[in-house]
Amino acid sequence: MNDKPLRVEDVSLSLGATVVFQHLSLSIGRGEFVAVVGPSGCGKTTLLNLLSRFIKPTAGKVECNGRVRMVYQHDSLFPWQTVSENISLGLRHLKDPSEKRRHLDAMLRLIKLENFADHYPHQLSGGMRQRVELARALIGDTDILLLDEPFSSLDYLTRIRMRNELARMLDQMPRTVVLVTHDIEEAAQLADRIVVLTDRPARVCSQFQIELPRPRELTHPRVVETVHEILTDLGLEHTGWQQVVAR
Ligand SMILES: Nc1ncnc2c1ncn2[C@@H]1O[C@H](COP(=O)(O)OP(=O)(O)O)[C@@H](O)[C@H]1O
Ligand SMILES: [Mg+2]
Repeated sequence: MNDKPLRVEDVSLSLGATVVFQHLSLSIGRGEFVAVVGPSGCGKTTLLNLLSRFIKPTAGKVECNGRVRMVYQHDSLFPWQTVSENISLGLRHLKDPSEKRRHLDAMLRLIKLENFADHYPHQLSGGMRQRVELARALIGDTDILLLDEPFSSLDYLTRIRMRNELARMLDQMPRTVVLVTHDIEEAAQLADRIVVLTDRPARVCSQFQIELPRPRELTHPRVVETVHEILTDLGLEHTGWQQVVAR
């Protein structure tokens, strides 16, 4: 198996008149959890679309070795399907109904929604829906999880809870993860490595490695320090820093 399931090599990409990337290189190791942060509009979603091979680069090479699932910012559950039916979409490759049932039941237990299996998305809270999204992406034979600001539409407390949920789920079902987020705290609490992108054309501005078990305490000195350093790199140290700590 390739130990770098995701690799972007000297990639340039223009969308219409917009130059999104110029000579961007980045590789992600198997089982690694990488968070990508950067200014709005710098190309984070586009990077995930490249990694999933949804779009092709104008120049350079993208390698994606594995089965990919994507989770989006806005909930993309089918409203006419129940929790069980939505999650089972990730099990289409299984033919044996009893095996399907076994995987589904285990997943419902993992996301603590055993009692909501027959509910429809509109009957769930935002946090519950996002757990179903993650379950659908994690279940089955996925290797790589691409998460595009998955918690950004949730309220602050639910977002913090979801970080714990995600860490717990990945503990049970390890995956290679790329998490795009505008939430620097979230990145510092969860990721093994944080990649900070610049404005367009986006390049890697800096990277931070955090070798601590996750989820880390919001107030862990390494988390606080990393948040500060990222804000400094983004040129926001005097505006954002106090607010982030005080929030
Ligand atoms: N299909 C498209 N056609 C033209 N421009 C696009 C398209 N998709 C995205 N863009 C532009 O590419 C840039 C990066 O977008 P995006 O990856 O969505 O940014 P981010 O996710 O970092 O906020 C933006 O300027 C956006 O307007
Ligand atoms: Mg985006």
